[in-house]
Amino acid sequence: MKSDMRLIMLGAPGVGKGTQAIKISGKFNIPKISTGDILRDAIKNNSSLGIKAKSFMDAGQLVPDDVVIGIVEEKLKGKDCISGWILDGFPRTLQQAQALDSMLQRITAGIGHVLFLDMEDEEIIKRLSGRRSCENCQHTYNTYFSLPKNEGVCDNCGGRLVQRNDDKEGTVRERFRVYKEKTEPLINYYSQQGLLQKIDASEGIEIVYNKICSGIQ
Ligand code: AP5
Ligand code: MG
Repeated sequence: MKSDMRLIMLGAPGVGKGTQAIKISGKFNIPKISTGDILRDAIKNNSSLGIKAKSFMDAGQLVPDDVVIGIVEEKLKGKDCISGWILDGFPRTLQQAQALDSMLQRITAGIGHVLFLDMEDEEIIKRLSGRRSCENCQHTYNTYFSLPKNEGVCDNCGGRLVQRNDDKEGTVRERFRVYKEKTEPLINYYSQQGLLQKIDASEGIEIVYNKICSGIQ
């Protein structure tokens, strides 16, 4: 099975994974599976998944592996995933990466590219402090870099723009610590498999997007 359009976005909190994943999903007509968005939706709906995930997310900790692996496994079984997908925020631990490998082995598919967005921590923190998300559709804006047409209102759906609970300073620090401990080892994991594409994420959204597109086409 052709694996080019099975894509993984890898990178630190706030580096721009979600922003780019939406654009790539639209361009190549493949579903975007964002574990963070799925978990935030579950919290909003007060489902049992949301109740389980909330305390971990608010503390900047990872939700347990078995929970997120189960979510992704279900999504990847969907018909819409047959000709590709883009994973945003998964895998985030070695155990998740190995679980994904096993899922793909079962359907004799492989990963096309792991898009590693790379940038200095300090710049990322500025992106995170300015981020505002629509509480209805989760579309993301930024008070420094990409303002909505009307302040505090989503261009897409008219929803209210809010700051994410885990974008508070102390929680951001913890998310970075967890990223370095648990997720950074995946850079090596995928690089050794020849799948990693390192992309300088410090430039504007369109420049980063064009670099990603030329890398995967
Ligand atoms: P998740 O939602 O995945 O958060 P994250 O990895 O911390 O990443 P972010 O969503 O914060 O950042 P992003 O890289 O998507 O950046 P964005 O595009 O928004 O996870 C949240 C939590 O859920 C985790 O802490 C954990 O608890 C749990 N979780 C999720 N997945 C899990 C898993 N697999 N296992 C266990 N737990 C899991 O951009 C940031 C800002 O910058 C925006 O304002 C944007 O407009 C702006 N921006 C983006 N690109 C540019 C650019 N090029 N120039 C200028 N501004 C830009
Ligand atoms: Mg995101």
